Amino acid sequence: MRSVFARTSSTSRSFLFGETADSQLAAPSRRCNLSDDIKIVLAGVGTVGAGVIDLLKRNGDLIAARAGRRPIVTGVSARNRKKDRGIDLSPLTWYDDPVVMARDADYDIYVELIGGTDGPAKVACETALRAGKHVVTANKALIAEHGTALAEAAEAAGGALAFEASVAGGIPILKAMREGLAADRINRVVGILNGTCNYILTAMRRSGRSFDEVLAEAQALGYAEADPSFDVDGIDTAHKLAILTSLAFGIVIDFGGVSVSGIRNVTPLDIQFAEELGYRIKLLGIGALTNAGVEQRVEPCMVRCETPLGSVDGVYNAVMVQSDAADDTTYEGRGAGAMPTASAVIADLIDVTRGRTMPVFGIPAARLEQPVRVDSEERGGAFYVRLNVRDVPGVIADISAALRDEQVSLETVVQRGRSPNDAVPVVLTTHKASAAALRRSLDRVANLDAVLEEPCLIRIEES
Ligand code: HSE
Repeated sequence: MRSVFARTSSTSRSFLFGETADSQLAAPSRRCNLSDDIKIVLAGVGTVGAGVIDLLKRNGDLIAARAGRRPIVTGVSARNRKKDRGIDLSPLTWYDDPVVMARDADYDIYVELIGGTDGPAKVACETALRAGKHVVTANKALIAEHGTALAEAAEAAGGALAFEASVAGGIPILKAMREGLAADRINRVVGILNGTCNYILTAMRRSGRSFDEVLAEAQALGYAEADPSFDVDGIDTAHKLAILTSLAFGIVIDFGGVSVSGIRNVTPLDIQFAEELGYRIKLLGIGALTNAGVEQRVEPCMVRCETPLGSVDGVYNAVMVQSDAADDTTYEGRGAGAMPTASAVIADLIDVTRGRTMPVFGIPAARLEQPVRVDSEERGGAFYVRLNVRDVPGVIADISAALRDEQVSLETVVQRGRSPNDAVPVVLTTHKASAAALRRSLDRVANLDAVLEEPCLIRIEES
């Protein structure tokens, strides 16, 4: 297999295209000059960066055939030059500073895998775009916070800005929405967008263990970061959702408009009740276009087990898109990891190399609309409510009365156990109700003598 690295001494040597063991390209062979190369520099050589280098090497001929030119990594930048990454970076030009690489290196496409909202990742991308280069990035935080400005910069300079890897790793969801559903009006997008959370919730359901226990195990297995807050508090999902909703609805990206709550408060008891009622608890990112504006929220929700999202377990991600012509389409796959993410990065490289680029968010950045935010708190719907009560006569009647007085209609009432002196859980599910009315009734319920804790409330989401 030929190297994917350009040696600094490379000249006009030519080679037979397709002459290696790449069986998918056994024929036809054609002559390919090194002048056909497309030069790539890579900022950030962690798991994904190493995966990109590995995959460019592994599927080199196939990628070159699809791109029309051979992608060659000519330079890299990372924090630690000495770190053993299992790949030989010695033939490459090394840059300590990714911004200097963006400014000074000889390249066509800048691949940004540094991460982080501001700082070097942002400056490097801006520098590359200003220089008229193309940028491919996996950085969801950067796109969620600065995507519109970067898109404007790219479109002004005539460069591409591609970020398929930023949302749901190996699932080509941005391409599916931007290109596959280009004829449709999308009105709702719902996703399981964080593998760490989905792994934790799945493991809690299967083992009955608490969030803390499962998180500790996930950290030991390398599925969760030492500082897990970005994942478990829903920020990572919110970044991805903001990108999806911008693309879906043609709006200026509005990360600040996402209402976010994570999974720390999900209990094994709620997961067990959900299961008994035919639901799974999933951390969902939901973007919806309503008459009032754009709603964006990230929160643990109950979805029916048998729905496409209800059956997505473990580290897998899935996105369901509702649109007017194609109707519901669902996409599932690995949302993270070296190879799935490298696959998305290289798909972007191929598109850019082929010149197959579109406006960054499907329509020119200048035509993206400013979204009107809809307050998710006020949105009605069906809810799961768990109460912890003393098992005394009349308690269910009092709870029912508080709900009845606010016109909240119950679908299910479950009371477990018999324990006159101790607490027992009472679980209610409602039909579609006004959120404000439910909150008012639960304020009354929380004040009842027999109700021992604040009610636990989880939305039931039709998916
Ligand atoms: N930390 C993310 C997840 C992967 O757990 O899905 C990168 O976005």
